[in-house]
Amino acid sequence: MNNEAKTSIVILAAGKGSRMKSSTAKVLHEICGKPMLYHIIKEAQKVSDDITVVIAHQKEKVKEVLQTLFENLNFVEQDTENFPGTGGALKNYTPKYEKVLVLNGDMPLVTAEAMKRFFDETSDIVMSIFDLENPDGYGRVVLDENEVCYIVEQKDASEKELCVTTVNAGVYAFKKEVLERFIPKLSNDNAQKEYYLTDLVEMAKKENLSVSALLVDEEHFKGVNSKKDLSHAEEIMCERIRNEWMAQGVIMHLPQTIYIETDVVFEGECIVEQGCRITGKTVIKNSHIKAHSVIEESIVEESDVGPLAHLRPKSVLKHTHIGNFVEVKKSTLKGVKAGHLSYLGDSEIDEGTNIGAGTITCNYDGKNKYKTKIGKNVFIGSDSQLVAPVTVEDNVMIAAGTTVTSGTLKSGVLAISRQKLRTIEGFFHKFFSKED
Ligand code: UD1
Ligand code: CA
Repeated sequence: MNNEAKTSIVILAAGKGSRMKSSTAKVLHEICGKPMLYHIIKEAQKVSDDITVVIAHQKEKVKEVLQTLFENLNFVEQDTENFPGTGGALKNYTPKYEKVLVLNGDMPLVTAEAMKRFFDETSDIVMSIFDLENPDGYGRVVLDENEVCYIVEQKDASEKELCVTTVNAGVYAFKKEVLERFIPKLSNDNAQKEYYLTDLVEMAKKENLSVSALLVDEEHFKGVNSKKDLSHAEEIMCERIRNEWMAQGVIMHLPQTIYIETDVVFEGECIVEQGCRITGKTVIKNSHIKAHSVIEESIVEESDVGPLAHLRPKSVLKHTHIGNFVEVKKSTLKGVKAGHLSYLGDSEIDEGTNIGAGTITCNYDGKNKYKTKIGKNVFIGSDSQLVAPVTVEDNVMIAAGTTVTSGTLKSGVLAISRQKLRTIEGFFHKFFSKED
């Protein structure tokens, strides 16, 4: 961190985000399972040890969420009542180092590599620009022969300025003294009655300070202002996650249809088929996840799952086969086969056990949850119910259609609960006879 450690990073996260039309603060909206701010801070921590988040709107909530995710963060409160706007956000901020990188809290795609580019520049202000076919929502950057003149916000722009397709990406490196000098001088004489950080560019130019612009790409600097932007940013983030895992050796069929969250880990050789959704702190090792399966916060080792299976949180599968329409929740299965149509919840199932189609662990009585324990080499016939709490010892057979009520099935038994079958001669023809 030699060079980089000398830069402070401040992330603006105090805004309302009204264009999101949500009661959740904009910066807490999630992308691939984590708040937008998480992605930015994770990258910022790779390049700086002085990171500050500016908060105001839903400040308690934002702080609480971030404190559960990170240590060593500084928080500064913005007085949005008297000093609204991105410039107002820096009023109460004092950086530790001489250089400050300012990031908007709504650009979740920014990477440490992208941030580093700003550290190499020596101008008093380094800003970031990109060109967009549709610049809607961004501040327009007015240039004169490649020199930045000023930034005008969309709401303040003239017809002519609105046609400018070079936009302000919203990341800046400032010398500390530039902030100290110009932030107090900002005015709110504009359409939104806000103190715009972007005005610093024109102010600095008038005082003959140097301003340079880095050309960046939307892939890393996209700002999220609406739910549509959010989904677009998630698409880009998810593609990054998939590409990283494919580079690590995971095979993916139709990868663009697969959703994988940030905390998911693959080990060894894995295959993920189309349409899968894998979330939370899931670990998948040497396993095959077949089409359209959903895996949440689970561990899957040397196993195959799906198609169309659902592993809910806290499922642990080792050397196990899970087939279609099987739902597993908070259960540990080792060396088990559950090929079709089952619900296995709050259970422990051991090696060599076969779960027949339609087997259900009845784990809930309407008030409490109970456990099912099934030993080794148990054969459970189709359409059986295990009413928990229940223990099935090793080497037990349960006949198809059996309801096992609470208690213990001792090793070696056959459990069968069936009505004796009755047949009534000639019933069919009588019932369907044409006479009546
Ligand atoms: C801002 C820039 C615009 C740029 C765009 C890039 C300004 C005035 N405009 O516009 O030129 O093209 O980003 O994405 O800076 N925030 C605060 N306090 C506030 C207001 C906002 O901390 O009082 C935070 C928000 O939480 C957000 C960030 O600043 O994370 C940007 O605010 P937003 O309102 O989204 O600015 P834009 O209109 O997108
Ligand atoms: Ca924005």
